[in-house]
Amino acid sequence: MGKLKALDENLNLNNKRVILRVDLNVPIKEGRIIDKSRIKKIVPTIKNLIDKKAKIILISHLGRPMGKIDQKLSLKPITSVLKDVLNSNVYFSNESYGPAAMEKSKNIKPGEVLLLENIRFNKEEELNDKSFAIELSKMGDIYVNEAFSCSHRAHASVFEITKHVDSYAGKLLCEEVGVIKMLTNNPRKPVVCIIGGSKISTKIGIINNLVKKIQTIVIVGAMANNFINQKGYNIGKSLFEKNQENVLKNIIEQCKKNNCDLLIPEDVIVAKNHKSQGTLKNINNIDSSDLILDIGDKTVQKICEIINKSKTVLWNGPAGYFEEEAFSLGSNKIAKKITENTKNRSLTSVAGGGDTVAAINKFGCSNGFTYISTAGGAFLELLEGKNLPGIKALEINE
Ligand code: 3PG
Repeated sequence: MGKLKALDENLNLNNKRVILRVDLNVPIKEGRIIDKSRIKKIVPTIKNLIDKKAKIILISHLGRPMGKIDQKLSLKPITSVLKDVLNSNVYFSNESYGPAAMEKSKNIKPGEVLLLENIRFNKEEELNDKSFAIELSKMGDIYVNEAFSCSHRAHASVFEITKHVDSYAGKLLCEEVGVIKMLTNNPRKPVVCIIGGSKISTKIGIINNLVKKIQTIVIVGAMANNFINQKGYNIGKSLFEKNQENVLKNIIEQCKKNNCDLLIPEDVIVAKNHKSQGTLKNINNIDSSDLILDIGDKTVQKICEIINKSKTVLWNGPAGYFEEEAFSLGSNKIAKKITENTKNRSLTSVAGGGDTVAAINKFGCSNGFTYISTAGGAFLELLEGKNLPGIKALEINE
């Protein structure tokens, strides 16, 4: 991974049109934004550009409209949210490119913001279409990518556009890439990775890339059910991913070879369904009608001890079905322990992934980590050691 062409703080942006690629792909239910984390995250960047008297043109996608207009996925409702937090004029353009959008981009005043309609309403975006990217590029004097979470997509507003206008990596993007680089290259040891979620196949890349550099991997969430099952224990009706025997074998072998401890739950919370009360059980005592929905006390205790011994922790994937109080204790305790040690023992703590961030927010720990990434796929792919097109495009060839 090379050095990023970062936006120079001293660059004179007075009256300059700045195309800012952001990720406003926020969860919206019945017209209401459920989680504003991604909006809040880009506010300092936009405010900074407002202070510099730039004309800010925001490009984002929302959902996956597959190149068609879908009013449920319009970015328009976000205009008023931005207006409230930015304390500046924010205009909306029903077109995301073309003469009308271009006109608006020219007419806004320094320090004002223009939000363009969902870029994925145009099929050319995902096709990384050159003419489309050129049209987009004409709306600005410079382009800044502040959407790390979209940088794994070789799309026109992330990748191709950078070839047609002076392009830079924003502060957030640089920060996020820097943190992941630190994790994958030279983390402070000992390092523990707490990996959860439902699918082991989606995390194997990270494990393979990090196993040589870390001291402990803790497997939690539904993923752990595969390991419990592989040990020969009954997992009842619990979620598990089929045909993963070789993947599991490979993880166990890799851990042994690289002297990395592998911890799986020794006790769990089971229930008959997601709405019923939980019961604590050892993993050798699970009934055929049980559903594993969280980790148990002894496992939580062990994880906390490992966190206490670690200097760096990476957390991706909740420990259980934290949306229900009865099954939230594992994730809650992990979030609180990491927060406590980040504050009092200078633990370097990084978390990422939609569900993990939701859990951290729910338990009031959003200020307790060294870094929390709101990216999903991009976070995982960079941790896997892959090249991300949006990042590659902004690297300086030295
Ligand atoms: C995300 O939510 O991870 C980003 O906005 C990218 O969205 P996508 O997976 O639809 O490309």
